[in-house]
Amino acid sequence: RFLVEGQVDPFSLVADELCHIALNVSLPGSIPDAAANAFSALRTRHQRVAEITEMIHVASLLHDDVLDDANTRRGVPSLNYCMGNKLSVLAGDFLLSRACVSLASLENTEVVTLISTVVEHLVTGEIMQMSSTSEQRCSMDQYMKKTFYKTASLIANSCKAIALLADQETEVAVSAYNYGRNLGLAFQLIDDILDFTGSSASLGKGSLSDIHHGIITAPILFAIEEFPQLQEVINCGFDNPANVDLALDYLGKSRGIQRATELAIEHANLAASAIDSLPHSEDDTVIISRQALVELTHIVITRAK
Ligand code: FPP
Ligand code: MG
Ligand code: MG
Repeated sequence: RFLVEGQVDPFSLVADELCHIALNVSLPGSIPDAAANAFSALRTRHQRVAEITEMIHVASLLHDDVLDDANTRRGVPSLNYCMGNKLSVLAGDFLLSRACVSLASLENTEVVTLISTVVEHLVTGEIMQMSSTSEQRCSMDQYMKKTFYKTASLIANSCKAIALLADQETEVAVSAYNYGRNLGLAFQLIDDILDFTGSSASLGKGSLSDIHHGIITAPILFAIEEFPQLQEVINCGFDNPANVDLALDYLGKSRGIQRATELAIEHANLAASAIDSLPHSEDDTVIISRQALVELTHIVITRAK
């Protein structure tokens, strides 16, 4: 009950469901009933992918809140805060185990490999974030790689899995993947901006959790390009609150927030283009679900929390 009411973010569930309709799958079957049955079976399998994605996502957030020592998740007290770290880790493990069983039941080796690799990516992303050298922490290339692993891989590969299960052509699977990849990158870029600004546009209104944990994100990386001396501040670490203030001063004087926002918009636009590149369809339901997928790209970049 706690997970359902408090922690579940239905974002990927919605995206997977919409992908199912957007692909406009036509299944073979000379008898209408047989085609309808095949369609309904595919829909069930697609819903399973959405559930697996959501379970992996929530499992990763439960573990993330332990690693980040977070008190809240989506505005409510986090599970680790209410019940302690031990139970949170086990709750994440439980969801991950359920996701594995559900994934195996799809009996599709390619999809199993794809989604299992996502779990590896989530861990890789977290490790990159916590154990990089100062040079790596200040590299935009490294930041984008880490962002793909920790956020975008899950949605990219689950969208691709939807296409694979529907036996779609490679180009369609690539478009589905590119949609998820770019949506995920845009989402995390905005998340990293909101850590500085919160719901208002002013600097310092966010939780500033990343910088306090020494995590260097896109706004600061862009600010370093304008003020290379900021790198020195970063190298000194953020245990001293004066260093946080200094870094925020440089960020405020720079175009860091603006350039990070522009990068997020660029990825949101690439996600929308991936939907536009899907094979043409006159079907109203398909058109509406594709519009909704494009609408998601706007929601991601205009969200304030
Ligand atoms: C949120 O990032 C965290 C992630 C997107 C991934 C976390 C992954 C792990 C903890 C690896 C373990 C994975 C599994 C499958 C159990 P954030 O802390 O930047 O964002 P937040 O503001 O949502 O906390
Ligand atoms: Mg966190
Ligand atoms: Mg984290």
